[in-house]
Amino acid sequence: MNTHPIGVFDSGLGGLSILQALQAGLPCEDFIYIADSGHAPYGERDDAHVIARSRAITRYLRGHHDIKMLVVACNTATAAAIDTLRQEHPGFPIVGVEPALKPAAAATHTRRIGVMATRGTLASARFQTLLGTVDQQAEFICQPCDGLAEAIEHTVSTGDATNLIALCALYSGAMGQFGHETGQIDTLVLGCTHYPFAQDHLCTLVGSSIQLIATGEPVARQTKRLLQTSAMLRTSGSGQLKLGTTGQAGLLQAAAAQWLPWQGDVESLSIA
Ligand code: DGL
Repeated sequence: MNTHPIGVFDSGLGGLSILQALQAGLPCEDFIYIADSGHAPYGERDDAHVIARSRAITRYLRGHHDIKMLVVACNTATAAAIDTLRQEHPGFPIVGVEPALKPAAAATHTRRIGVMATRGTLASARFQTLLGTVDQQAEFICQPCDGLAEAIEHTVSTGDATNLIALCALYSGAMGQFGHETGQIDTLVLGCTHYPFAQDHLCTLVGSSIQLIATGEPVARQTKRLLQTSAMLRTSGSGQLKLGTTGQAGLLQAAAAQWLPWQGDVESLSIA
């Protein structure tokens, strides 16, 4: 058993959707979550920016918190930076997040699947390789969703969902018709960790019978497997959580109070 915390990071609030699943699946583990809101969004930035930020946060988490494992709770950062992180930290366990194309291919009946993700994720070689493993099984309609992660964060900070709803309508509409008839999309992959927090609006737009597929639970299962095989899984402990941000502490505070069983102070960080 290893009682060190697990590090988790995202460009902002989105990784909290992964943290929710991690806390549910690994209740004895301690977590430290970093929202890199001061350098967000990642999805419309170049790879060099995302790699530099991912390296800096990983160094910080290992250096200041002696984490036993890292979960990159961001599809965009996984696509751009996970290979670099693994090369720079050999032997250190790192779990990433990828759009759930395989589960979607297994779930669809109409064989038409919508994929919402950031521009960076969809353009990445990693995503294209993943797509190549399943594109014989179904047709994937890939929709870059510029501004959607920011609109989700804006809604948390102001309570105003006008722009969020407009963007959800724009992007779901652009993918085509949703439904269960031949030629319609019956399965929607949420390929950015922010998007589960827009799930209610998306459901209203595409219809509640459409399957929305996110990645929190598979990531939690994979994290647990890795901890078990390396004899690091905690079997006792009350599960402590620390939150830090490179952006506004109040924003992460508000989101965590809304989405997690958590109360406390968010640490303001400058991670260079
Ligand atoms: N949450 C991130 C992801 O899963 C991206 C959001 C952003 O563009 O920063 O891709």
